[in-house]
Amino acid sequence: MSDRLYIFDTTLRDGEQVPGCQLNTVEKIQVARQLELLGVDVIEAGFPISSPGDFNSVIEISKAVTWPTICALTRAVQKDIDVAVEALKYAKRKRIHTGIGTSDSHIKYKFNSNREEIIERAVAAVKYARRFVDDVEFYAEDAGRTENEYLARVVEAVIKAGATVVNIPDTTGYCLPAEYGAKIKYLCDHVAGVEHAILSTHCHNDLGMATANTMSGVLNGARQAEVTINGIGERAGNTSLEEVAMILKCHKGLGITTNINTTKIYPTSRMVSSLMNMPVQPNKAIVGRNAFAHSSGIHQDGVLKNVQTYEIIDPKDVGIDDNAIVLTARSGRAALKHRLSVNGVDIDDEKLDNVYQEFLKLADKKKEITDDDILILAGADRAALHNIKLEYLQVTTGKGVRSVASIGLSISGEKFEAAATGNGPVDAAIKALKVIIRREMTLKEFTIQAISKGSDDLGKVHMQVEHDGHLYYGFGANTDIVTASVEAYIDCINKFKK
Ligand code: KIV
Ligand code: ZN
Repeated sequence: MSDRLYIFDTTLRDGEQVPGCQLNTVEKIQVARQLELLGVDVIEAGFPISSPGDFNSVIEISKAVTWPTICALTRAVQKDIDVAVEALKYAKRKRIHTGIGTSDSHIKYKFNSNREEIIERAVAAVKYARRFVDDVEFYAEDAGRTENEYLARVVEAVIKAGATVVNIPDTTGYCLPAEYGAKIKYLCDHVAGVEHAILSTHCHNDLGMATANTMSGVLNGARQAEVTINGIGERAGNTSLEEVAMILKCHKGLGITTNINTTKIYPTSRMVSSLMNMPVQPNKAIVGRNAFAHSSGIHQDGVLKNVQTYEIIDPKDVGIDDNAIVLTARSGRAALKHRLSVNGVDIDDEKLDNVYQEFLKLADKKKEITDDDILILAGADRAALHNIKLEYLQVTTGKGVRSVASIGLSISGEKFEAAATGNGPVDAAIKALKVIIRREMTLKEFTIQAISKGSDDLGKVHMQVEHDGHLYYGFGANTDIVTASVEAYIDCINKFKK
């Protein structure tokens, strides 16, 4: 068996299904180009029939990248496959990823069907897709909870029908590593013709076992791993690309290699986190802020004597530049441009000028500017296209008094002003906002997060607002958390379907 593991990145499909993390087409192209630099083999670019946005993204990503195979997801339905074929027309290498649920609960409750009929539908979908493309991947949704004997029959039938890759998703993140590995081994041992296809892992992290399950699958014969950057994905997420790539790099004795250029891992992680407004947990393996920070005295002493005492990975191997220059108000454009590029953001000189002006304003308020700060500044022009903009906000607050806020908005260029009182500064500011924007809307979730430690830090606010039966996700960042909160609320309103 080949010792090469193919990396199938689904950040732009499974990862992008996370509420509040949706990217526009331009942003998806940026991520896809970065994934190409990173060296992934396959980019799952979207689910074309699900929305015109996804359809368009698959088209544009197909045009923008050269080496990776571009993959489009479908259900086992002819119309889905037709639309995917159309969306993939510019891809230099293309793959259709079609499939159907195979666990008893999917068969009974989702499809009101039976095992034989599901095999027929699976085979028909693969044969239909093969009429248009040579590379067809089949997914057996909820394979993690599908009985092995039946799963083997499905896998055998789809390989016979022409599937080149067969995906064994642990859709609910239920399996134990030994159980998932045994499933892959069972398929390798019992499926006639298994050598004509590649078995793929696709693990979710509901019980925190996605990476362990993926590795167990790989050690038992899977030769493609489906992963996302930073492990993002629905619920608890998917297997993270950086973990699988670094496990194989650290454990060379396994003899399994990938095409990943690991020095691009950190910039890619930062880019995805920033574009999706999805913070990386500080203790996240490989890419978390604390992944290489030794704080205990014993560790620091050991690392100073010899880094190998406590470090199994050289931070440079994942693209962390430990000679990072600290940015301050005296830093020039070149230093700012360099830090942005270390963080996966390459911008032209005109945009650099704008970001630099904002950087100087922030550097006046903060002593040291962090990577998170500059990523937010570089992404701020996304809000510039908004219909509703915050012009000014003034809040008076204190102990034992009601807070008072006055606010100025510009809506499609027209100016509006209002004032209101509230239980606290954020409450007052949002009430003032609602005096101008008179729509039924309810705040559902509100999270404030400081990026580093200082009292002069940028506060990041994530919000969910319900309007007309839909949830909208918004983001704001400012050294003043009341302003950040109002900006996050406005971000939600700007996304309302009219
Ligand atoms: O988790 C899953 O089962 C999936 C399939 C659609 C591949 O994402
Ligand atoms: Zn999935």
